[in-house]
Amino acid sequence: MASHLLVVWLVALCFASRAAAKLSTTYYQKTCPEVEQIVLDVVTSKQITTPTTGAGALRLFFHDCFVGGCDASLLVSTNAFNRAERDADDNISLPGDAFDAVVRAKTALELQCPGVVSCADILAIATRDLVLMLGGPRYAVRLGRKDAFASTAASVAGHLPSPNMTMDQLISLFEKNKFTVQEMVALSGAHTVGFAHCSEFASRIYGFNGADRDAHDPSLNPQFAQALQKACANYVEDPTIAAFNDVMTPGKFDNMYYQNLLRGLGLLASDTALAADPRTKSFVQLYAANQTAFFEDFSHAMEKLSVHGVKTGRKGEIRHRCDVFNNLST
Ligand code: HEM
Ligand SMILES: *[C@@H]1O[C@H](CO)[C@@H](O)[C@H](O)[C@H]1NC(C)=O
Ligand SMILES: *[C@@H]1O[C@H](CO)[C@@H](O)[C@H](O)[C@H]1NC(C)=O
Ligand SMILES: *[C@@H]1O[C@H](CO)[C@@H](O)[C@H](O)[C@H]1NC(C)=O
Repeated sequence: MASHLLVVWLVALCFASRAAAKLSTTYYQKTCPEVEQIVLDVVTSKQITTPTTGAGALRLFFHDCFVGGCDASLLVSTNAFNRAERDADDNISLPGDAFDAVVRAKTALELQCPGVVSCADILAIATRDLVLMLGGPRYAVRLGRKDAFASTAASVAGHLPSPNMTMDQLISLFEKNKFTVQEMVALSGAHTVGFAHCSEFASRIYGFNGADRDAHDPSLNPQFAQALQKACANYVEDPTIAAFNDVMTPGKFDNMYYQNLLRGLGLLASDTALAADPRTKSFVQLYAANQTAFFEDFSHAMEKLSVHGVKTGRKGEIRHRCDVFNNLST
């Protein structure tokens, strides 16, 4: 019985990794040798003119990969027949600039080598380049992903983390996706860049635990909490108001996020929880003290994320446009 189960488990393991094993860093060497340079040129100019692009792409990539694999399903637009993944309620303002960077790279690539490079690969390369531009580590991205045939808003529920989840829920969500607790902490270091809208942390800074309006989460640094209360004062009328994820070095990819967590400067409840829970705290302390260790672990975790649930062969297609399936009736 036990050996029978072992065989089933081994077979399942092989299927899971077979698609990822087909990817390689030289996948387009013959069919589109300029691919890396073309994507780099496009995202570099986009990031210079619109500095929010980098963080946006990183979050977009994470969401795409956690919902049915890194297959550009998140890039598809809703039409009259289908409410797409990007319009799920959880999309909470995925920034248009990251979508735009991919669309621009796709346009350039379709001129050079039409119908060859998938949108999923473009998003993976763009994200890697942007992390580097922001000051982060360079990691290897293997290529050969196919684009998904489906994208539905309904597929999102339960697949993405939310700031009000308990640590048990966060850990089990990442474990379901085959990421360890340490990898979860390393990936969360992505919150060293970008921002969050006030609604994502409002319950921490106004009327915390049903107390009066000024009561904030006591695990927040008081000056930080007051600054956030001020900044977000009109967030109900203006839901676009946001705060930097990393208040100290908001545009720089560094280990400041972890240092912040240890000083009560974590923006989201889930961020702060990483520094409090005994299962995650030691990793926060390690990365706060040693940026090299953070960059190494983040790189490995991103390489792993970038092949998560990828589709190869006939399981996907090379979309002509990143926002529509080739077969429009799908
Ligand atoms: C651990 C659980 C996580 C939770 C609960 C979480 C939640 C959030 C929330 C609520 C926001 C703000 C969205 C907004 O208001 O627009 C955000 C932003 C962001 N998240 Fe996460 N996230 C998590 C993990 C990750 C991971 C693993 C990555 C990437 C590897 C990531 C990358 C980002 C980035 C880059 C931003 C900033 C986006 C921007 O500025 O446009 N997050 N996250
Ligand atoms: C996210 O979804 C909302 C509706 O749920 C939609 O209004 C918004 O345009 C979507 N954002 C993006 C970037 O597609
Ligand atoms: C967490 O937040 C989401 C979105 O804001 C909400 O739909 C959900 O009900 C909340 N869950 C809990 C346990 O509060
Ligand atoms: C920081 O981490 C790196 C990589 O794990 C390690 O080689 C180095 O010795 C660490 N530095 C310190 C001061 O602990």
